Amino acid sequence: MPVMGLGTWQLTEDTAGVIQSALELGYRLIDTSGDYGTQPGIGQGIRRSGVARSDFYLVTKVEETDDAYEATRRNLEELGLDRADLILLHRPPESGTGEDLWLGLMRAKEEGLATDIGVSNYSADLIDALVEATGETPAVNQIEWSPFGHSEDMLRYTADNGIVIQGYSPLTRMKRLDEPTLLALADRYGKTPAQILIRWNLQLGTVPLPKASKPGHLQENIDVFDVHISDEDMSRLNRLNERFSSLGTLPYE
Ligand SMILES: NC(=O)c1ccc[n+]([C@@H]2O[C@H](COP(=O)([O-])OP(=O)(O)OC[C@H]3O[C@@H](n4cnc5c(N)ncnc54)[C@H](OP(=O)(O)O)[C@@H]3O)[C@@H](O)[C@H]2O)c1
Repeated sequence: MPVMGLGTWQLTEDTAGVIQSALELGYRLIDTSGDYGTQPGIGQGIRRSGVARSDFYLVTKVEETDDAYEATRRNLEELGLDRADLILLHRPPESGTGEDLWLGLMRAKEEGLATDIGVSNYSADLIDALVEATGETPAVNQIEWSPFGHSEDMLRYTADNGIVIQGYSPLTRMKRLDEPTLLALADRYGKTPAQILIRWNLQLGTVPLPKASKPGHLQENIDVFDVHISDEDMSRLNRLNERFSSLGTLPYE
């Protein structure tokens, strides 16, 4: 899996053009979902870019109200792809663990429609229950994740169970970009606040999925491989944790 990706929620204007630019800039992971309305444009952008299928990693999601297997087929059709690299169960259903949905994704994987399957917005307890019921561990838990909202416990749990954290809303949807500690660190490293947030994820071993549509943002967010945040400054960033969620509440302890 590439170490970072491009988010596409609300990337509904010139989706194909933005995806083509992102691939040309070097992005190799694209995150979408059946409910984003971006899949046809993403497919178009990929085709226009000429990047080979083996050279990009596509993540999509099915909804908790879907038939997971059928929704997988529908997503692939919209994307114009034979398989996804990763299909996620977007969120747990209102009650239970989503076992039936997970069985649908397991079938999709068995049939080669997905290389890996995973979950999103799951707590450790819910993942444990899902594994207990089905015997299949998710490859990924995609959760909101930034210095302002993260968890040592979830980091430990996923490391112990071989699960990758993909971090969504890694830029806090721009709501914390002017926090003073972040601004000071950006100044110290000659980077922008957004780049420091992305770098924090990379150094933690979690996979950030910043969404960008403006050309400058796309370029800026991938220009993060020439800097290293010191251990001391990583600790400073960790201490900004206030269980912040741009969407409401973090779905994990
Ligand atoms: N699994 C889930 O339940 C779930 C939930 C939410 C999100 N996600 C995924 O995670 C992705 C990212 O999360 P998100 O879209 O919520 O928020 P985000 O990536 O934290 O923030 C996106 C916003 O930041 C702006 N931005 C991008 N780069 C910037 C920069 N360098 N400086 C300043 N502003 C910048 C973007 O503007 P422009 O677009 O104008 O460039 C956009 O308004 C989503 O797109 C989606 O793929 C998944």
